[in-house]
Amino acid sequence: MDEGLEAAKERSWKEIAAIDAAHERGELDDAGWHEAVASVIEPAYLAADTAESGSGSSRDARGWEYARSLLADAVAPGQTFLDIGCANGLLMESMARWGDIEPYGLEISSELAAVARIRLPQWAHRIWVGNALEWDPPHRFDIVHTNVDYVPVPRRPALVKHLLSYAGRLVIGVFNEERETRSLENEVAAWGFAISGRSERPHPHPQLAYRAFWIDSS
Ligand SMILES: C[S@@+](CC[C@H](N)C(=O)[O-])C[C@H]1O[C@@H](n2cnc3c(N)ncnc32)[C@H](O)[C@@H]1O
Repeated sequence: MDEGLEAAKERSWKEIAAIDAAHERGELDDAGWHEAVASVIEPAYLAADTAESGSGSSRDARGWEYARSLLADAVAPGQTFLDIGCANGLLMESMARWGDIEPYGLEISSELAAVARIRLPQWAHRIWVGNALEWDPPHRFDIVHTNVDYVPVPRRPALVKHLLSYAGRLVIGVFNEERETRSLENEVAAWGFAISGRSERPHPHPQLAYRAFWIDSS
């Protein structure tokens, strides 16, 4: 494994890989997996000294915009946009600016949701606490945005299916991966979902790309 490449993809990759391996060996059940992931993510996000790191990004404001704003390619002005795993709400706020969407958020950590509500008082009533795998929304959304690694590996197809039950379009990303293969897109297609579109930008690491893709509900 190329450790430099893995570190460029994901800051906490070693801890998360160990948690996934423990789940695969049966040493952690699903609740234990979520608890272990939260023990890595929550303290780091709550201690963050920039809005970007409070949403899990190691980039500065320019880097955040460069990478995350490719999500604007998936939306149209005025659409409702639910950010699954909204953390401190920075993507909700950013997408309202980049895509002129109506933002909503869901967050598994009540403490992070509280931070988002304080940062975005005008949308506090649109920020809910729950696990995306089982959360029932109050209404449909034009766009639901997620990453698949918010649930244990065997639950990922079920997450996509559940989110598509109330999304006009499900957008997955932004994630980093090696440029030469569309690994995640191919994996999700192999679960039986038809990919409707995609967007990408070069990553500072020459072997990687920032990517997002989407599935339109039929
Ligand atoms: C990397 S941040 C994403 C911030 C922003 N949505 C973005 O894409 O830039 C991931 C957030 O997802 C939350 N999260 C992880 N698993 C979740 C789940 N199953 N349901 C809801 N939120 C989850 C985490 O607590 C964390 O705040």
